[in-house]
Order: sequence, then C-alpha cells, then structure tokens
Amino acid sequence: MKILVTGGTGYIGSHTVVELQNEGYEVVIIDNLSNSDRTVVDSIAEITNHVPVFEELDLVDRAATFACIEKHKDIVGVIHFAALKAVGESVEKPLLYYYNNLTSLINLLLAMQKFDLQNFVFSSSCTVYGQPDQLPVGEQAPLKKAESPYGNTKKISEDIIRDSVDAGSMNAISLRYFNPIGAHDTALIGELPLGVPNNLVPYITQTAIGKRDHLKIFGKDYSTHDGTAIRDYIHVVDLARAHVVAVKRMLQGNSKIPFEIFNLGTGNGFTVLEVIKAFEKVSGEKLNYQFTGRRKGDIEKVWADTSFANQELGWKAALGLEEMMLSAWNWELALSNRFT
Ligand code: NAD
Ligand code: WQD
Repeated sequence: MKILVTGGTGYIGSHTVVELQNEGYEVVIIDNLSNSDRTVVDSIAEITNHVPVFEELDLVDRAATFACIEKHKDIVGVIHFAALKAVGESVEKPLLYYYNNLTSLINLLLAMQKFDLQNFVFSSSCTVYGQPDQLPVGEQAPLKKAESPYGNTKKISEDIIRDSVDAGSMNAISLRYFNPIGAHDTALIGELPLGVPNNLVPYITQTAIGKRDHLKIFGKDYSTHDGTAIRDYIHVVDLARAHVVAVKRMLQGNSKIPFEIFNLGTGNGFTVLEVIKAFEKVSGEKLNYQFTGRRKGDIEKVWADTSFANQELGWKAALGLEEMMLSAWNWELALSNRFT
C-alpha cells in the first residue's frame, strides 16, 4: 500500500517514512527541499534497505502537485508534514507563512478531491492551545488566539480540513504534537536546523559540541518548581510511530468520526533545567548556560492529556527524556563527524 508523505525529507517526516517502510508500506515523498536535504533519502534507504520514491516539488505549484498525485493515484493515504515552521520568522514574514502553509494544504486537498483520495493525516501543534486554563490539556480544551502567524496557520489549517471533511467523503486525523525532540537511534537522520536554532534541544547539543558559546535560558521566574518553563517533550520516533497507527486506523475504517484530533505527547512535563540535567547525565558533558529574560510569546507550562490517544489509537509514547537526549546528542556527534 502506497502512502504519500509531504515534507518527507524533513525532521519528523523522515522518521515517519522509516517507520512506514519498516511496516511494509510503499512511500512517495514530496518535498521542495526548502528546509531539508536530498541526502536524507539515502539515509532512509540505509536504515530501511528500501529507497522511497522522491518527488522534488513545491506544493504551492498546483499544476505540479496535481500532476504528481495523478502519477501516483494508487496512493491510499496522505500524511502532510510540509510546512514552514519557524515561529520567529513567521512574525517577520507572515505572508510567506500564510502563503506557503495554506496554499500547500489547499492544493493538496484539491488534488485529493480530484483523484478521489480519502485518508489525510495532518501535522498540527500544541501551539493551538496557547497557555491552557487546565493542565494536562485535553483535545476539547478551547483554542486560544495564536501567538504567531505560524501558530495561526495550524488553527486555520484545522478549520480548512474540518470544512473539507464536512463537505465530502474524505477522512482526516489531525495530530497535535507537543515538543518533538531526539533522533533515530542509528544517528543517520535527525533534526537539521538551518542557522542558529530556535528550539531548546538543538541549541543544547550545539552548545555542548562547541558550535555555540552558551545556552540562554529564557526566564527563571515562572511559577514552576525551579522557575523555568515546562513542556511535554516527545521522542520523534514515538511521534513517527503514531502516524503509522493513525494511517492504519483510517485504512481499516476504525475512525469514530470523519475528522479526529489527537494530542501526541508523553503526558509528562519537564522544566528547562530538568532537560539540561538529563542531557548532562547521558552525555557526560557540562553545559554552559546563563539565565536571561523570558522570550516573547512563550507560555509558562503545558503538557498533554494523552488518555484519548492512548485509548483510541492504542498508542503510547515509550521513550523517556534520557533516551530523547542521548539520541539528540548522538545525532549532533554524527553531524560533526560528517562535516569534519
Ligand atoms: P521540517 O522543516 O524539518 O520539515 C518540513 C519539510 O517540508 C521540509 O523538508 C521542507 O523542505 C518541506 N516543505 C516546506 N514547504 C514546502 C512546500 N511548499 N512544498 C514542499 N515541501 C515543503 O519540519 P518538521 O519539524 O519535520 O515539521 C513537520 C511538520 O510538523 C510541520 O508541519 C510542522 O509545522 C509540524 N510541527 C512541528 C513541530 C516541531 O517542533 N518540529 C511541532 C509541532 C508541529
Ligand atoms: C522549549 C523551552 C523556551 C530555547 C516551539 C513552537 C511550537 C512548536 C514547538 C511547532 C521553552 C526554552 C528555548 C533556548 C530556552 N513547534 N528555551 N532557551 O517554544 O515550546 O515550542 O516548538 O509547532 O509551536 O513555539 O519550544 O524548543 O523553542 O522551547 O530557554 O535557547 O525551552 O523558553 O520554555 P516551544 P522550544
């Protein structure tokens, strides 16, 4: 069975392609390589002993998208990762983000409609909850005004998908990721941040390896047990496996409603200092860090209520914080070997 994975050479997409191929699915990747590298296809092939089909194209190009889907119209499911995702950049270039993320989605849904493809999995984000009134946050929690144009593209995308499902025969599942971190245990694929990383874990590993002088911890006066902000970090391999489960659920006709939404996290929150401590323990490195003021737009604490995903999908995150940090560190070491 053939699955289309857009953004399949990206961070989460590449791990998902590996899990799909390990489960015997044929994969077609669409990516415009705006935030990833063609060599990822070779790494996926090395891990799985199977080369995925790779189509380099930009999903904002409707004609090219239609031609590609027509060529692969035996696809039975689509997992849509392709998007721009840098929160800060989206504040500076909102139109780029709305244009890329929403036009890609609409073109893909139009192509699915034209070629009668029915099963759609979407990469959403816990950013849609903002700072929740109650923790852990469940899927029914009210959505808050987005803190950034990027976050708003996720809210609007979910509305577009819901309306499309209501209007036709398509099924969809939106997966709201909490904070994906870590890398594949082969250290052949992982996150490849371009330039200075915005996210905590690549910043930690780049500091430890000497690419950055020190980590700035944003805020030490939050109302948490050590004053630093709390997030629900999830291993990217656990996240990838949830996508395979979601696709199977739709293929087997097990969806309870045509548009389902699931939180993907571990259900555990960790502070920034706890993440650093886990990193220092597994790597044996001492991290150079300093406290600075809060980062604009950051929330204080969030972690997922995962009970609905656990029960309905029969999926549960299995890997812990230390495994996440060790795999992230091994990936950073592998990257530094690659480029020296
Ligand atoms: P990524 O940047 O590594 O992967 C996205 C891929 O999409 C890249 O390879 C990029 O080249 C491709 N792409 C972007 N626009 C495209 C277009 N117009 N046409 C074709 N390809 C295009 O990002 P990721 O971390 O793997 O994220 C995957 C998805 O998950 C995104 O939708 C992101 O918003 C979402 N998400 C990510 C996180 C996170 O922290 N990484 C959290 C929640 C949600
Ligand atoms: C985690 C914690 C920072 C960097 C972002 C997006 C969100 C989602 C995931 C896609 C926070 C602190 C960070 C640093 C620090 N992406 N930190 N120093 O902000 O929870 O979420 O990525 O949907 O939409 O907003 O993740 O990794 O940036 O930060 O102290 O140099 O680490 O303040 O508390 P975040 P993050």
